[in-house]
Amino acid sequence: MSRTLDPELRRALAARIRYYNDMGIYDFYRRPPSDRAGEIAVSTNQPESGEEMSPRKATAVAKPVAIQGDENIFDLIALKPEQSVSDPVQALKIIREDLGDCTRCVLHKQGRKQIVFGVGNPTAELMFVGEGPGADEDEKGEPFVGRAGQLLNNMIKAMGIAREQVYIANIVKCRPPGNRTPERDECETCSPFLMRQIAAIKPKVVVALGAVAAKTLLAMNASMMQLRGRFYDFRPAGVRSNDPNWDGCKLAVTYHPAFLLRDPRQKGEAWKDLQMVMKELGMKASAKGAE
Ligand code: URA
Repeated sequence: MSRTLDPELRRALAARIRYYNDMGIYDFYRRPPSDRAGEIAVSTNQPESGEEMSPRKATAVAKPVAIQGDENIFDLIALKPEQSVSDPVQALKIIREDLGDCTRCVLHKQGRKQIVFGVGNPTAELMFVGEGPGADEDEKGEPFVGRAGQLLNNMIKAMGIAREQVYIANIVKCRPPGNRTPERDECETCSPFLMRQIAAIKPKVVVALGAVAAKTLLAMNASMMQLRGRFYDFRPAGVRSNDPNWDGCKLAVTYHPAFLLRDPRQKGEAWKDLQMVMKELGMKASAKGAE
């Protein structure tokens, strides 16, 4: 299958996206792949053999164009509104305003009290990404403030830094009812805003807490055992970097603090993940993990 997008199609898509951008629309969602995923048919104007291409004379010929499933054309084209400002505080404000009183997925009508946007240092070198707000977070409007949050705070402290130095957010910004796992479409609808937050903060390392965060950020399906223990080169999907000094960051996967509360024997493994992160960030590793 060809990896390149037909130049004519690319131009047409760019024009269409610019048209939407002019109307203030920046977010686009993919339909779930159909059984013809990765292949679409378009009409392209092709010259008859030996003939010059002319818009009037061109004959429309239906020609299948193969598009690599993972090729995100929006990466190539659309700049987000916050990308016109260099101050990350302002950029995050623009993203928050764009999110508004979000009703993009069903979670808005399933008992959420408020949107939990994210908290912390807008210029953080280190970001933690969890799954979604629980009851305490929904109540306070801040991620990781309940029991799992206390453990996350201890993990951050064990790294020799303070919670205020990092940025913390979730894949979904509204509490799933009964703390259920967010559905895939909810993650897909909400995560473009997180991707924009990451691009605005420009961290050196993102730590995905748990399988939902890891799978959504990396767009891959694998077990925690397969996902942990290494760094991934990460670029926020759907955001085209316009900063020559930031072309993505490293991403590491570790256990979700709520899982560690249920199975404290895995804390040592999580500490190994965090030590790997500390080494990457040039932080001095202490011998002791989070209690
Ligand atoms: N669990 C999460 O994934 N996120 C929170 O903010 C709290 C608990």
